[in-house]
Amino acid sequence: MSQPREQWGTRLGFVLAAAGSAIGLGAVWRLPYVAGTSGGGAFFLIFIAFTLILGTALLIAEFVVGRRTQKPPVPAYKTIAPNTPWFFNGIMGMICAILILSFYSVVGGWIIIYFVRSLGGLASGGTDYEALFGSIISNPWEVGIAHLAFMLITILVVQGGVRKGIERTTNWMMPALFILFIVIVIRSLTLEGAGEGIAFFLQPDFSAVTGTTILFALGQAFFSLSLGNSVMATYSSYLPKEKSLINSAFSIVVLTIIISLLSGLAIFPGVFAFDIPPDAGPNLIFIVLPAVFEQLALGSLFFTLFMLLLVFATLTSAFSLLEIIVSSVSYKRPDSRGRTAWIVGILIFILGIPSNLSYGLLSDWLIFGNTFFDSIDILTSNFLLPLGALIVSLFLPLKMKKADLRDEVMRGSAMGNGLFLVWFTVIRYIAPVAIIIVFINSLIGLFT
Ligand code: PFF
Repeated sequence: MSQPREQWGTRLGFVLAAAGSAIGLGAVWRLPYVAGTSGGGAFFLIFIAFTLILGTALLIAEFVVGRRTQKPPVPAYKTIAPNTPWFFNGIMGMICAILILSFYSVVGGWIIIYFVRSLGGLASGGTDYEALFGSIISNPWEVGIAHLAFMLITILVVQGGVRKGIERTTNWMMPALFILFIVIVIRSLTLEGAGEGIAFFLQPDFSAVTGTTILFALGQAFFSLSLGNSVMATYSSYLPKEKSLINSAFSIVVLTIIISLLSGLAIFPGVFAFDIPPDAGPNLIFIVLPAVFEQLALGSLFFTLFMLLLVFATLTSAFSLLEIIVSSVSYKRPDSRGRTAWIVGILIFILGIPSNLSYGLLSDWLIFGNTFFDSIDILTSNFLLPLGALIVSLFLPLKMKKADLRDEVMRGSAMGNGLFLVWFTVIRYIAPVAIIIVFINSLIGLFT
């Protein structure tokens, strides 16, 4: 290779980019509606437990694969375990990233539409927002153009490279997102009737928990942390050897949990204050938020700010989904990054068109009772991501020496060896057993 491979400028730059990948539609759009359909507070608690225990450990595991080899997933697996089929997990991760980005960019497009429309005052007047959402997303031209615009921004940033494109952009988008979020939550919590929503979100009712709830909470934990498809392995492959993996992982998990909590607090008070069924589905935030903001002084301005926040959150996750593919395809020829980003980005856009039409022209096209859009979401989040994570947790203890793992995990961190042993135990025993049990449990649920 002619020029040396790029690296993140600073550890904070890496943490913000990885937190940017983690924090996105998962926390702000998916969590509230999945919690809404799967039992509220109990779901949220199970999700937090999975995120803290399995999520942190598996995030570190993915970091080990990337940082140790400084290569994209497929060559990374081949370097750690030459002449074995484990590299297949890298291929599956790429396929999964392509599928996720195909529907993620569709929702990114919806958000752009709401942002642009809000500039003209979407949140004023007694509109029926459910009907408005329906009419917006069933207009193929408007959603098509917005979907394309979202993809073009993603391509332009990823084309710029890891440091000049992704790091430079996430370095200002993420702090902006945190500030906007805090402003919005304060607004929401001061709504009359906010208490009922907070209770739904935070008070666990375990009688509503089924095997499917647990599977969805597991899927949500993996989706939220961008785990199981080697995206985090790819980001960590640009991390210099001396930087601490464990400290970075903790920062990312904590930031993701805080934002997930804040999104629930931003959204559920409004759901209850305005009598919107909490299980409204993927369109929940598009119906609830305009209705909430409409009631507030300067509501239109705050709605625009929230949509801007969502655009940032969605873009910073989309960068990572495109980066794993671009990094892999242009690995041997770094000068082809720009071209690769364009070709791959446009192909993923085309693949996303059926998802985009799922709520309009193709709404009758159901797979096992789900729209094309929901089917891809469920396939990736609930099956491919946990499967990918399961494979990483089997892979590392089998294919790397314990001493090498300890060196990679603990380097640069002042924490004691005990923590390494906890991590090793979770990866070696708890994570695989937990994932397999959840899988079996939900399979039994499917057939009974
Ligand atoms: N973590 C992102 C979110 O919560 O919105 C979604 C995501 C990004 C999933 C990247 C998987 C991934 F590889």
